[in-house]
Amino acid sequence: MEKLGIFSRKRDWNVRKLVKEAEKRNIECSIFPLTELVVKLGNEPKVLCQDSSLGEFDTLVVRSTPLGSAEQIVFRMDVLHRLENLEVKTFNPSGAIEKCADKFYACSLLEDEGIPVPRTVVAEKREDARKAFRELGDVVIKPLFGSGGTGMVRVDNEDMAYRVFSAIDFGDSIFYIQEFVPHGKKDIRAFVLDGEVLASMERIGKTWKTNLVRGAEAQPYDLPPEMEEASIKASEVQGCEYAGIDIIESDDGFYLVEVNAIPGWKGLQSTCDVEITKEIMDYLEE
Ligand SMILES: Nc1ncnc2c1ncn2[C@@H]1O[C@H](COP(=O)(O)OP(=O)(O)O)[C@@H](O)[C@H]1O
Ligand SMILES: [Mg+2]
Repeated sequence: MEKLGIFSRKRDWNVRKLVKEAEKRNIECSIFPLTELVVKLGNEPKVLCQDSSLGEFDTLVVRSTPLGSAEQIVFRMDVLHRLENLEVKTFNPSGAIEKCADKFYACSLLEDEGIPVPRTVVAEKREDARKAFRELGDVVIKPLFGSGGTGMVRVDNEDMAYRVFSAIDFGDSIFYIQEFVPHGKKDIRAFVLDGEVLASMERIGKTWKTNLVRGAEAQPYDLPPEMEEASIKASEVQGCEYAGIDIIESDDGFYLVEVNAIPGWKGLQSTCDVEITKEIMDYLEE
């Protein structure tokens, strides 16, 4: 590999690690915002970002997919697909990023493979959301897109549920309502690369949202074989070359709640000896 591009809004820890590792290997590395794409048809070159021709890159690592209007999001995804058509490798593949970005779509693919997901109702009408609340009781209401626990609320009383549904209705959103799984403020993150679990950790949360950005603590964790198998399968059905699988466990068993196609590894790296950045770059250089 000679030229590596990274789509990222900011130079976060993961991006800095990748840039450093690329420099060590004499790989030319550039960072681009996914929000400044220019595409030309019937012309050369075909895809530009900040005047660079992206068709000249060997690999483009997608490290952020900023929120935007439906039109903006669709356009950016179309361009990632187009880059693949121009034989530029995107990491993750654009199809995987697209599937995982939508929590509902991702979880439906998991369910089709027999991977356990929490009981969930997704609906467009407020009345159907109310029915779902009556059916599920204690629930987590989530946005379809989003990360870091943003925009998610836990609701266990009907009054509050109706108020939340009114607020969501006002914003033209979809209702994504999932039973609350009592996980004791802990969850598990498995990091899959190239069809294998490279490392895993337990996240001990301050609240029921166990995202590290919400102050959860990362601890080493030995992944049981059944979770390992489910994580590998989950990554595979989404078409991910690397993925961060979020698993919650209660007395009834374990459930997958999310497959992250842009997983960070800062917290995980602090719990294990395997050099994750190096493994990723080795994989990209294969
Ligand atoms: N159904 C649920 N029951 C209990 N806790 C949940 C549930 N869904 C998510 N969580 C908690 O919230 C966190 C964030 O949820 P997740 O679906 O992974 O969205 P995000 O993209 O914001 O990380 C999870 O890591 C978990 O701790
Ligand atoms: Mg998550």
